[in-house]
Amino acid sequence: MAHPFDSLTADAMRAGGSWKWSTPGTDAHGRGLIGAFVAEMDFPPAPAVAEAVRACADGNRFGYLSDAWVAEMADACAAFWSDRFGYAVDPAWIRPLPDVLTALTSVVEHFTPPGSPVLLPTPAYMPFLTVPGMLGRELVRVPMAHDGGSWSLDLDVLDAAFASSGSKLLVLTNPHNPTGRVLTEAELAAVTAVVGRHGARVFADEIHAPLTFDGRVHRPYAASSETAAAHTLTATSASKAWNLPGLKCGQLILSNSADAARWTEVGYLAEHGTATPGVLASTAAYRDGREWLDDVLGYLDGNRALLRGTDLPGLSVTVPEGTYLAWLDATGLGLDEPPSAFFAREAGVVMTDGAACAGPGGMRLNLAMARPVLADALERISAALA
Ligand SMILES: Cc1ncc(COP(=O)(O)O)c(C=O)c1O
Repeated sequence: MAHPFDSLTADAMRAGGSWKWSTPGTDAHGRGLIGAFVAEMDFPPAPAVAEAVRACADGNRFGYLSDAWVAEMADACAAFWSDRFGYAVDPAWIRPLPDVLTALTSVVEHFTPPGSPVLLPTPAYMPFLTVPGMLGRELVRVPMAHDGGSWSLDLDVLDAAFASSGSKLLVLTNPHNPTGRVLTEAELAAVTAVVGRHGARVFADEIHAPLTFDGRVHRPYAASSETAAAHTLTATSASKAWNLPGLKCGQLILSNSADAARWTEVGYLAEHGTATPGVLASTAAYRDGREWLDDVLGYLDGNRALLRGTDLPGLSVTVPEGTYLAWLDATGLGLDEPPSAFFAREAGVVMTDGAACAGPGGMRLNLAMARPVLADALERISAALA
């Protein structure tokens, strides 16, 4: 049965002016480029979110953030996390931030020893590779294990990286961008053992938490054990699941009283950047956007099935367990240029190059588009391979 998203055309997306669709030019065949790189969805917003933003304008709510609006958002976020993930968070421990990078910056600066390195499993979300360096910290890559289309954390490599670098912070993204992995409870427990052994902490980036498939449920790292709660700061946002990154609102979730006390001392500057419309829209998303989210999850699942059913000889395809980002490994093609450059030129599909994620030879394909547009993108990729 047709879904309303099916009628979203590439031309309409280009006219919309988003970054995702504004790469200039055409491919080698004169076709318009399909934007499949940056992690946002092409779908129109949840009605509750659109209504909240309209209400900001109509109700003159462009002023500074009030404590009451923060509390409403924290309540809505806590209820969502409790209902979806079984994690009962005290709303007082959910704090507003503009985005996840602000959370990472704050955690590095205020919750790790001065000058200490930061560990990051790779491939990774691109800015995590560069932001620690901008803060004067060494970034230590922890390559993930890769077996065919399947990725996992390599705990021996992680253990050795802690030992050799003296790092006190692991950046743990789950569900994982760009491999789409959703970690199991056993994997989370194994991470806790390694982190605990080195007296380190975890920055848990769980921004993709609601976006899981095939019956998988996101397990918040901080909820996995008391030990984990004691060494974790969690960042999340409605920005991925409800597609609101431009509204600049995320959440820092604290999970122990020592960190909560420290945050009251150091959190002001980070919190100050949060946008009032973003807070009000995030409240609406968590509270009244669940039906829309479930519909989107069903649609994305159909797109995953389309990818799974498409023959792409020469590419090793990882269909995501969570997130709407697929990983296409092109190392088998033996290209003498970055694979994203080849497919942008020959297929007119603009993907994130793996090298930007510290996963050279791969590409990150964003599946969150109208299914006919995705079908066109996959046909073009297939033809370019042929
Ligand atoms: C894993 C991950 N973390 C963080 C972010 C940043 O999102 P935001 O800027 O909305 O906080 C993204 C965005 O794509 C992401 O995929």
